[in-house]
Amino acid sequence: MTKYQDAQQHLRDHQYHWLVTGVAGFIGSNLLEALLSLNQKVTGLDNFSTGYRHNLEQVEKLVGPEAWHNFTFIEGDIRNLEDCKRASRNVDYVLHEAALGSVPRSIEDPILANENNISGFLNMLVAARDAAVKRFVYAASSSTYGDHPDLPKVETVIGKPLSPYAVTKYVNELYADVFARCYGTESIGLRYFNIFGPRQDPDGAYAAVIPQWVAALIRNQALYINGDGETSRDFCFIDNVVQANLLAALANNPEAVNQVYNVALNERTSLNQLYEMMRSLLLEQFPHLETHRPQYVDFREGDVRHSQADISKAGKLLGFAPTHRIDQGLKQAMDWYVAHLSSPQ
Ligand SMILES: NC(=O)c1ccc[n+]([C@@H]2O[C@H](COP(=O)([O-])OP(=O)(O)OC[C@H]3O[C@@H](n4cnc5c(N)ncnc54)[C@H](O)[C@@H]3O)[C@@H](O)[C@H]2O)c1
Repeated sequence: MTKYQDAQQHLRDHQYHWLVTGVAGFIGSNLLEALLSLNQKVTGLDNFSTGYRHNLEQVEKLVGPEAWHNFTFIEGDIRNLEDCKRASRNVDYVLHEAALGSVPRSIEDPILANENNISGFLNMLVAARDAAVKRFVYAASSSTYGDHPDLPKVETVIGKPLSPYAVTKYVNELYADVFARCYGTESIGLRYFNIFGPRQDPDGAYAAVIPQWVAALIRNQALYINGDGETSRDFCFIDNVVQANLLAALANNPEAVNQVYNVALNERTSLNQLYEMMRSLLLEQFPHLETHRPQYVDFREGDVRHSQADISKAGKLLGFAPTHRIDQGLKQAMDWYVAHLSSPQ
């Protein structure tokens, strides 16, 4: 039995109360689905700034009425301490996902990024501390590696941040660390690399590359690659992220706590390779893709050239072992987008 199978079995046998912030978003709604499927009790907090009610409705359909009964939703804002306190009441584990994502958005509006990602984070830490939760697991980010050139990225070696977003995510780690020292709180930060999967938003100016491209491919619209296409990322399927969160919450090895971990695959895929993988997965159902080609535009401000994670720390201390490589994840993600995105054809 893997550590993850153990953790899942433990949850089937024991019901805990979880708070998932950002529950109407991409990662939050996938955590919700996994927890409810394991018969857990979940409170969710979201202000719908980038999340959607339809994500919650979809989870409701997937888990069925009995499991859905274990979910309480609070429409609220992490910038409001009272909302955080209300949501944290009687909670065992917090999975804190609420934040404003996107490097370009933070360059456009650094004050808004700071309010949501730093003040909001601090409110959640205080609320979790005061509610004496067992553990606070939070979404950190690979952007914290900034301009450091080494590959693969090892948790202890970071560079200078390249965007306000990266600053906010690094400050989260500093606060979590200092709360452990000052108040004895237990936290674990998960430095997500580029995560993808069902319910990741394909629309809007700040959409991530995979959902943005899949929408363009299905709808036969122009698709843009920033730079020469040789920029690379460690793309990671959502199921691996769910695994990392559950393992982080339940880890009982004291050495594993108050740490940050990379969550990715330790693989590197260029944008050109990604485009070809996606096009060929969709080609059979969308013959117009036979002649579809990307358009190359300028490099994007604040983007790092290459990214790849060393995941040995999460493997050793949490028992993290990704179940989905990029091709398996892409197949599942494409199937979901084909079923949920309307085509103009
Ligand atoms: N998706 C990735 O590749 C990736 C990579 C690194 C880190 N992260 C982090 O993971 C977390 C989840 O990201 P996601 O991709 O699911 O994004 P998302 O935008 O789909 O989800 C974020 C959710 O948080 C909610 N939210 C934002 N501000 C809020 C506030 N002030 N109060 C209450 N709710 C608020 C949004 O409405 C949304 O539902 C974020 O912290 C993000 O920074 C994501």
